[in-house]
Parts: sequence; C-alpha cells; structure tokens
Amino acid sequence: MQPTILVTGGAGFIGSNFVRAWMAAETDTVVNLDKLTYAGNRASLADLDGDPRHVFVHGDIADATLVAQLLGQHRPRAIVHFAAESHVDRSISGPAPFVQTNVVGTFTLLEAAREYWSRAPSGERDAFRFLHVSTDEVYGSLAPDDRPFTERSRYAPNSPYAASKAGADHLVRSYRHTYGLPTLIGNCSNNYGPYQFPEKLIPLTIFNALRGGRIPVYGDGAQVRDWLHVSDHCAALRTMLAHAAPGATYNIGGNAERANLEVVRALCALVDAMRPEGAPRSRLIEHVADRPGHDRRYAIDGSAIARDLGWRPRVAFDEGLRATIEWYLANGAWVDSVTSGEYRRWIDVQYCVSRRA
Ligand code: NAD
Ligand code: TYD
Repeated sequence: MQPTILVTGGAGFIGSNFVRAWMAAETDTVVNLDKLTYAGNRASLADLDGDPRHVFVHGDIADATLVAQLLGQHRPRAIVHFAAESHVDRSISGPAPFVQTNVVGTFTLLEAAREYWSRAPSGERDAFRFLHVSTDEVYGSLAPDDRPFTERSRYAPNSPYAASKAGADHLVRSYRHTYGLPTLIGNCSNNYGPYQFPEKLIPLTIFNALRGGRIPVYGDGAQVRDWLHVSDHCAALRTMLAHAAPGATYNIGGNAERANLEVVRALCALVDAMRPEGAPRSRLIEHVADRPGHDRRYAIDGSAIARDLGWRPRVAFDEGLRATIEWYLANGAWVDSVTSGEYRRWIDVQYCVSRRA
C-alpha cells in the first residue's frame, strides 16, 4: 500500500504550507481532512489540484464515523493534526466552536486513532505517530524579565482559545500515558508567511497597508510575541515525525521576540519601500481598545528541540516579513478570494462596532 499520512486542517494557513512542503519533500500520499470553515480555503491548495498524491476530504474531525472510515481505508502511518479554531479574538466573541473543534474534535480523533492503532499489525503500530500541533499560548503570559517557556512551564491558558488548546494537549498526553498511543506535541509560537488569513496581526497589517485601510493596534502595542516563519514550523514538524521519541513534547520558536508596534512599524516601512505611492503607511496606525485578558508576552526556549533533534529556525524575521509582503503582492487573487462576505462581516463587527476608538 502507498505510504500515507492523514492531515487535518490542511486547507488552513499552516496546514496548507505543511501539505505543500510535505508533497515536495516526501513520497507519501496526503489525505487532507478539512471542514472548510471561514479559515479553510481550497484556493490555498490550488496548485495541488489533479495531483493523485493529494486526496482532499471535506469533513469534520468531530465526525467519528468519517474519521474511522478514512483511517480504515487509507491506513496512514501518521496523523498530523492542525484542524482547529485558531483566532483568539473570535474565541472571545464566540467560544463554543473552540470547545467543539479543539476539545471534542481532538477527542474524537484520538478515539479513532486509538482504535485504529491498537488493532494494527505490530510493524504498523510501532511506526504510527499522532502529531498534535499546539501553541505556546497554553502557558499563559510572561512578565518582561521572566525566562521563556520551556516544556516544563506550568499550563496557565488565559483565552478561551488557549484553554481549548490546553484541553486538547491534556487529552493527547493522557492517551499516551493511559493507552500508550505514540503521540507527539509541538507547542509553537506565532507563525507568519504565505496563505495566512488576513485576520491575524501580520497579514491584516499588510492587507490594510496595501489598500490604505487603518491598521488597528490593540492597547499600547507593547505586547510581545515570538515570531516563526511557517516554513520553519513545517520543517520542525517533519523533523519531529521522523526523529522524536513517542510521547515527546517540544516547544518550537523563532528567537524573534518583538513588540506588536515594532512589527507593525517594520511592515509599514517595508511596504513603503516596495510601493512608495501611499507612504508613509505609519499614518494608518490607530490604537484601538485592548483585547480583554490580553497576554503581555510569549517567548520560547527552543533548546530542547535543538539539542535532541537538531532543529533550529532558519528564516530571519526581517527577511521573512519582506518575503511575506512580496507573496501578498504577487497573490492578489488569493487575497480577493478570501476577503469577501464572511471576512467583511468579521472586520465590521470586530473593528467598527466593538473596538471603535
Ligand atoms: P487556521 O485557522 O488558518 O486553519 C484551521 C483549519 O482547520 C482550516 O482549514 C479549517 O477549515 C480547519 N478546521 C476547523 N475546524 C475543523 C473541523 N472541525 N474539522 C476539520 N477541519 C477543521 O489555523 P492555523 O493558523 O493554520 O493553525 C493550525 C494549527 O496550528 C492550529 O491547531 C493552531 O492552534 C496551531 N497553531 C497556530 C499558530 C499560528 O500562529 N497560526 C501558532 C501555533 C499553533
Ligand atoms: P494575533 O495575530 O491575533 O495572534 P495571537 O493573539 O494568537 O498572538 O495577534 C498577535 C498580537 O497582535 C496580539 O498581541 C494581538 C495583537 N493584534 C493587534 O494589536 N491588532 C490586531 O488587529 C490584531 C488582529 C492583533
């Protein structure tokens, strides 16, 4: 049988980058299970249309019958689980889908994986991996002088999004501990790069800088995030699948801590240099009401994955930002296709009603 992996959420930002990189680097078939929520776009995978190694399945990870059928039919050697509701602001205005997909959906997937794995022949059972893609936000917020998060940091999720991801992490951990399922967890910092839906800080800033819209900065803009180019995250996940010991958890970061205002100003300056008409974009920056419960700082200690697996981030932040703007400039059709109806409704509610300065 053709070696196969099952990817969930492969039509989203990180998932689509992962599938593309996987297809280029490996020989496996990819079965891609995605519900195509507002964040999932077939257009992000258009270049793979017609490739027999990419099998797209439109469906929900919380559909136990569908997931069991896919596992039985394709017999994957790994599940790489990206599917989630992923936007903190949306989790604040409507947390229910976060609990449903991130907690119940992950539980459903784990149950199906346990059933499939426990009945597999011993060779397949030994090789199988369940790789759960998670976030540094499960650890809560750091003070300016705190040490970065390690794999031993206490879980202290602050948003409904982070709490739902923490719940999923705990379920994955328990399936390792109780049933021996060969799980892996990656807790990664903020990603950026091509195909990111323009509701997150970096693509939203690029989108608005290019079209002359206002650029919203929450509160004082001094909140700090660690930024990792999505290609580096995907490489880290491939490395974990190939080399990490079952049960391992790794923090994955970019060694690029930046304050939000610094990121927004850097993007404005880069867009000004590439498209001088309309400069200076910094005039578009507008401080708006802060996010409730806003975490002040995230930072990752990535020494464990570097030491154990030799993975380190390669893309320098400034270079990654420049390449990301170039990608958005060259892919106007993709941007247009994802910024229609539902997107406009979200922007209206989020920025024009609830956050009017
Ligand atoms: P995204 O919102 O861009 O994509 C999520 C994908 O999951 C979409 O294609 C969506 O259609 C799909 N999906 C949602 N609910 C589903 C369901 N019930 N069944 C099947 N598919 C469903 O998210 P992303 O930014 O690509 O994040 C991917 C994963 O990485 C998430 O688990 C997220 O928590 C994690 N993560 C993201 C970041 C980041 O900075 N974006 C950082 C660390 C970890
Ligand atoms: P975001 O991209 O939503 O990722 P996360 O909340 O998962 O870290 O936000 C990154 C940072 O940027 C976060 O501190 C919130 C802030 N932010 C703004 O200041 N303005 C915005 O319009 C958005 C979307 C985010």
